Amino acid sequence: MAEFRLPPNSRPVQGVTHRAPGARELRTFRIYRFNPDGGANPRVDTFEIDARSCGPMVLDALIQIKAAIDSSLTFRRSCREGICGSCAMNINGLNCLACTTSMHDVGAEIRIYPLPHMPVVKDLVTDLTNFYAQYASVKPWLQARTPAPPDHERLQSKEDQEKIDRPAACILCACCSTACPSYWWNSERYLGPAALLAAYRWIIDSRDEATGERLDELEDPFRLYRCHTIMNCTDVCPKDLNPARAITEIKKMLVERSG
Ligand code: SF4
Ligand code: SF4
Ligand code: FES
Repeated sequence: MAEFRLPPNSRPVQGVTHRAPGARELRTFRIYRFNPDGGANPRVDTFEIDARSCGPMVLDALIQIKAAIDSSLTFRRSCREGICGSCAMNINGLNCLACTTSMHDVGAEIRIYPLPHMPVVKDLVTDLTNFYAQYASVKPWLQARTPAPPDHERLQSKEDQEKIDRPAACILCACCSTACPSYWWNSERYLGPAALLAAYRWIIDSRDEATGERLDELEDPFRLYRCHTIMNCTDVCPKDLNPARAITEIKKMLVERSG
């Protein structure tokens, strides 16, 4: 039987433990650490904290750990309210946003890893270069040949606006693409659910006039058709979006135009 194991220099080893004696509401964080300098294996450090010493969210605890215990702990964050998408990470096995995940919902022991199957820059920070390039490749902007009216914006009906309302709410956190097995194995060639949701958002925009070209670009065994409707993407989206359905809709449009 095939055996899948990380190469020896990528296997996490046990790291240091920081105790919190006397904590009245103890939370134990096991956090993946990787420092690209020095060539050491990644490790998993243990941080105990008193949950009453910080706010209720996992991100609050990470900020507290960085401020009070280990300033070298590295992670992305900005808005602290689920808008910027930068604090996406894997918490107790699920991709999610640390700032909208309550410590009370994840138990007393909290395991935190970077987004899966991505190159790690440092600790919980992954390299999203390919992810953003794939997003850019779907040309996520309005393409229209008809000149805009001279005296007002390009208008659309309320109904047409509502069609793009949800897909346009994507915050590009990458939780979906990095939960997708097809993306894990083919991330260089399969666009992944986030980029495909963005493509869909522009395909269905009533003001856009490049629908045909957009569909041509996607009609490819890898870029689109590596989606096997496993649905992990929709399950993990912290904004309750449905990239799997968007991908299915794109496939339907391709079938309809060929018929
Ligand atoms: S539905 Fe498609 S994009 Fe979503 S997780 Fe499954 S294979 Fe990936
Ligand atoms: S679809 Fe959801 S999970 Fe995927 S990048 Fe957008 S907000 Fe994040
Ligand atoms: S810090 Fe912006 S989404 Fe979490």
